Amino acid sequence: MKKFKDLSTQTRKDFPLFCKKIDQANNLIYLDHAATSQKPIQVIEALQQYYSFQNANVHRGAHQLSAKATQAFEEARQITAKFINSKSSNEIVFTRNATEAINLVAYSWGNSQVKEKDEILVTLMEHHSNIVPWQLLAERTGCTLRYIGLTETGELDLEDLRKKVNKKTKLVTLLHISNTLGTCNPIEEITKVAHSVGALVLLDACQSLAHKKVDVKSLNIDFLAGSSHKICGPTGCGFLWGRESILEKMPPFLGGGEMIQDVSLLESSWADLPFKFEAGTPAIGEAIGMARAITYLESIGLENISSYEKNLTDYLFQKLTAIEGITILGPPPNQNINRGALATFYVKGIHSNDISELLDSSNICIRSGHHCCQPLHKYYGIESTARASLSFTSTKEEIDLFSEELLSSIDFIKRNS
Ligand SMILES: Cc1ncc(COP(=O)(O)O)c(C=O)c1O
Repeated sequence: MKKFKDLSTQTRKDFPLFCKKIDQANNLIYLDHAATSQKPIQVIEALQQYYSFQNANVHRGAHQLSAKATQAFEEARQITAKFINSKSSNEIVFTRNATEAINLVAYSWGNSQVKEKDEILVTLMEHHSNIVPWQLLAERTGCTLRYIGLTETGELDLEDLRKKVNKKTKLVTLLHISNTLGTCNPIEEITKVAHSVGALVLLDACQSLAHKKVDVKSLNIDFLAGSSHKICGPTGCGFLWGRESILEKMPPFLGGGEMIQDVSLLESSWADLPFKFEAGTPAIGEAIGMARAITYLESIGLENISSYEKNLTDYLFQKLTAIEGITILGPPPNQNINRGALATFYVKGIHSNDISELLDSSNICIRSGHHCCQPLHKYYGIESTARASLSFTSTKEEIDLFSEELLSSIDFIKRNS
């Protein structure tokens, strides 16, 4: 087994929420990191510092304060670019979240490049944020959405991908790590198949960026959508990465503010990348906060995070599989499968909301519902599931307490129904 540092001892002290006792004896057990990450003090302080001493609009003012804010904002862009190994910070467009980044591509690239007979390939495991924008594009253009199916273990069916990719395929858009199945998709392999017919690849990296090293060059993708709030950064900020040569050709998504070069009464011309895609005042403090979150993650080391979380995920699976009546979705962790640090499960005859409410009464936060993956739940013929998701701050003790409380919650519901 790979050696790993105990990252929780090293990092929990940085998170005010984990240092605060809920009552005399108990801390909160937060196992909902896939929904949103908690924020370390370094990020909170970066936000406070910006709003206290640097707050000004960017790229607009001639005064020194605006120059300082602009410098910090553009440094945030460079940090984000380096984080994913982008060749230039011009390829980073700040958005409100990952959903907006995907919508930007669907509108700007989709409206200009996709025609009636074209096809967009999506997967059955996508989050609604990577389904609905393409359904809207299909309504606007008449193009067809096709879904790549899954294997019995909840991995992407690569044979099905090969069957469905053809000359009409314009884009393969998929997530890196599934927020429900935990499946980690083999992106390099998928990219080769897509590129062989000239299709582009958009990667939804919401569930991977805080858990493993993501390198846009080695993955050889064309677009990537990322979210600040999933990587220990503030809400209200995300980013789109796109190949410069592709972004250059795309028309603006939203209009107004500093995204222009020149405006006259009847027409306008556009600013250079990436500003062409940033209409209106951006989330300046939040982008700076996201960059601080990135440097925080880098100081722990993405490889350390991956191996620590792999060990914890194995332990979570051990504990859950020992509970009678539980079905876990997605591939089990093992030597060959690189999967996300989460477990999504259900117990026949018990609603997942009942489980999560009972756990909540013991200060344990897990997610229940469809996790914005209704098509996936429909495919499995279930309405809702419960999900425990981990981070580098999680501990075996938390997993022990969670599984003990889960067992007694299931017993309690069974006895009372
Ligand atoms: C896989 C995946 N894609 C997209 C999203 C949407 O991200 P955002 O909240 O940044 O729009 C999420 C959030 O839950 C997600 O887990």
